[in-house]
This record gives sequence, structure tokens and C-alpha cells, in this order.
Amino acid sequence: MRTAVLAALLLSAAALAASVAAAGEVRRVGEVQEDYARNCQGCHRADGLGAYGSVPRIRGFAGLFTHLPEGREYLIRVPGVVWAMLDDARLARLMNWMLEAYSRDELAPDFRPYTVEEIREARRRPLANVGTVRARLIAELQRRGLLPPGEDGLVSAKRVR
Ligand code: HEC
Repeated sequence: MRTAVLAALLLSAAALAASVAAAGEVRRVGEVQEDYARNCQGCHRADGLGAYGSVPRIRGFAGLFTHLPEGREYLIRVPGVVWAMLDDARLARLMNWMLEAYSRDELAPDFRPYTVEEIREARRRPLANVGTVRARLIAELQRRGLLPPGEDGLVSAKRVR
């Protein structure tokens, strides 16, 4: 009898621990989505498609930059990322989630998630000439055949590839 009660107690403790862990996971996913909604969505939109001609789309596009070392860095040195009101750890999680959620197919095959240290370091060096750097990277992606000519994530709604 005592054993049965003990076993039941142990089982329910294990079930409780499992559900607490699961809730923690759900909260983390919810939190990163909320970080996107509060900090990025106003411009990049909930569907990640941005605004025609002015805000680049993340969906089906942003991951392409990770094919170039300078592009990987570019993604975390743009003003919207550098100046987000989030600490480095949350920003790292947001960037990794965003790329997976909106642009998994375009990521470089050897893409490794951003680390907190990488984000911290990049934020110390915000890009001053975003437009010039972006244009150079787009040209390089087009030269490598990763982007069709005329496609720059801003003026074409066409899906890449
Ligand atoms: C006020 C509007 C605005 C907000 C808010 C904003 N962005 Fe952006 N984002 C832009 C614009 C415009 C660009 C194009 C580069 C530039 O001119 O800064 C851009 C570029 C980017 C890029 C590079 C992709 C590319 O195609 O150039 C990434 C990645 C990005 N933003 C992520 C984010 C994330 C993550 C957040 C939220 C933490 C965010 N942005 C918030 C407007 C915004």
C-alpha cells in the first residue's frame, strides 16, 4: 500500500515536471514571436513580406545573405536589428527563429545559428552605409546565380527559386 502511494506520488511528480518543462518551451516560442510582433512586424509585417519598394521581405529571402560571410554579418548589423529594444540573448534567439520561420529554404547549407557573442559584437559596429552594403551583397548574390537579375527583396514580390 505504502509502495503504491509512493509510486503514484512519484508518477504525478514526473508528470508535473514534464508539463512544466513543456509549458516553458511553449512560453519561449510565444515570447520570440511576441518579440518579433513588437519590434519588427510594424515594418516587416506579420507575414514577413515587408512593404513593397521600401522594407525588404524576410520571407523567402533574408536567408540568402547567409551564403556570403559579409551577408551573415550584414543581417545583424542593420539598424532595425542593432537598435532593437532587446538584450543580446533575446535578439540572438529572435534572429535564429525568424530565419528558420520565414526563410529556412534560402539559408546556406552550412548555416550555424547566431551566437549571443556574435550579436553582441555586431551591435558594437552598426552599419553606417546600409544601402551601399546591401546593394553590393545583392549584386554578389545575383552574380553567383542565387538571385535572378532584378530581384532584390524590395521591388519584386516573386518568390525566389
Ligand atoms: C522602421 C522599420 C523597421 C523596423 C522596425 C525593423 N526593420 Fe528590419 N529593415 C528595415 C529596412 C528599411 C531594411 C533595409 C535596410 C535598411 O535600410 O535599413 C531592413 C532590413 C532588415 C534586415 C536585412 C534584410 C535585407 O533584405 O536587407 C533584417 C535581417 C532585418 N531588417 C530584421 C529586422 C528585425 C529582426 C527587426 C526587429 C527586431 C527589424 N528588422 C525591425 C526596416 C525595419
